[in-house]
Amino acid sequence: MGNVETKFEYEKSPDSIQSLNDIRKPIEKELVTFKKYFQSHLQTDVFLLNRIIRYLMRMKGKEMRPMLVLLSARLCGSITERTYTAATMIELLHTATLIHDDVVDNADQRRGFLSINKVWKNKASVLLGDFLLAKGLLVAVDTDEFELLKVLSTAVKRMSEGELRQLKASKLQNMTEDKYYQIISEKTGSLLVACCECGAISASAGPEVRNRMQQIGHHVGLAFQIRDDLLDFSDRKTGKSSGNDIVERKITLPLIAALDAAGMIERRKMRWTYRKKEKTVHEIEQIREFVKQNGGLDYARQKMEFHAGKALILLNEFPESETRQLFSEFIRFVIYRKK
Ligand code: IPE
Ligand code: IPE
Ligand code: MG
Ligand code: MG
Repeated sequence: MGNVETKFEYEKSPDSIQSLNDIRKPIEKELVTFKKYFQSHLQTDVFLLNRIIRYLMRMKGKEMRPMLVLLSARLCGSITERTYTAATMIELLHTATLIHDDVVDNADQRRGFLSINKVWKNKASVLLGDFLLAKGLLVAVDTDEFELLKVLSTAVKRMSEGELRQLKASKLQNMTEDKYYQIISEKTGSLLVACCECGAISASAGPEVRNRMQQIGHHVGLAFQIRDDLLDFSDRKTGKSSGNDIVERKITLPLIAALDAAGMIERRKMRWTYRKKEKTVHEIEQIREFVKQNGGLDYARQKMEFHAGKALILLNEFPESETRQLFSEFIRFVIYRKK
C-alpha cells in the first residue's frame, strides 16, 4: 500500500481539534458512572456467554454514543438517572449491532481485536448480539422507561432496515447518492438521533428542543458514517481492517461520487472490477486510486463537513455555555477522528 501522507494529504486536521480524551475530561465522572451501569448489565450464568463477554469487555470502544447522551442531557438541562438509563441502553444496543454487523460484513477485526465472529464464529455471535439487544431493551422495561423504550426500539428497527437495504444495494447496478443517504440515515443516523433525543427526554426538554436535538443527531450521524466510509479508504490503523467495504462490495459515497465523475469507459470497467467477488490486492489498489483520482474522497469530505456544519448551526440556537462549547468540539471530533 502507498504512503499515507500522499494518499490523504487533504486530510490534515487543524491543530485546534481536541482529542477524545480532552472532550471526555469534563464529563469523565459521569462516564465512569455510566460504565458501572453498563457493566452491571452484562452478568449471565451461561458459561460460553460469560467467556465471550469477558473478551468483549477488553475491546474498548470510543463510547461516543454515551458521551452524546450525556452532552445532550446537559445541553437541555441536566444529567439525571434517566440519562444513565438511556446511555446504558444505547451502548448495549450499539454493541449488539456491531457484533451482528461484523457477521454480515464478514469482518475480522473490531476495536483492534479479532472480531467476535472471527474467534467464536457466526452462530455464537448472532446469539450474543441477541442477548445484548434484549438486555438493552430490558433496561427500559425494568425501569418503566417506556418513552425511552419507544425511541430506542424505533432506532433498532431503522438500523436493521438500513443494514438490509445496504445488503441489497451491493448487488445493484445503479447505487445513487440518495439511496446511500437513506441507508446511512437508517443504519447509523437513527441511533445518533436517539442519543440526542433520549438525552433531551432525560432532561425533561419540551417538544421544540427535542425536535432540534433530533435534527442535530441526524446530521451528526450522517457526518459520522461518511467519516467511517472515508476511513475505510485510508491506511490508518483504525482497529478495523481497512478496505473491507471494497472487499465486501459495499458502495459508499466516495465511490458513488467517483463513478459519477468518471468517463463512461472507465466507469464501466470500475463497476465490473468492483462487483467481482474475489478481488486481487492490485484490483483493490486500483479502485482506491480511481476513487481518489476522480475526486471521490474530496467530494465525500465536503458532504461530511456540510452535515457537521448543519449540526453546528442548530447547536448554536442554544444559549452559549460550556456544554455547548464541548458539544461543538465533539462534532468537530466526529469529522476529524482517526478511528
Ligand atoms: C462504528 O461505530 C459503527 C458505525 C456506525 C460506523 P464507532 O466507531 O462508534 O464504534 P466504537 O464503539 O467506537 O467501536
Ligand atoms: C455501520 O456500518 C454499521 C452499523 C450501524 C451497525 P459499517 O459496517 O460501515 O460499520 P463498521 O465499519 O463495520 O464499524
Ligand atoms: Mg461493518
Ligand atoms: Mg465502516
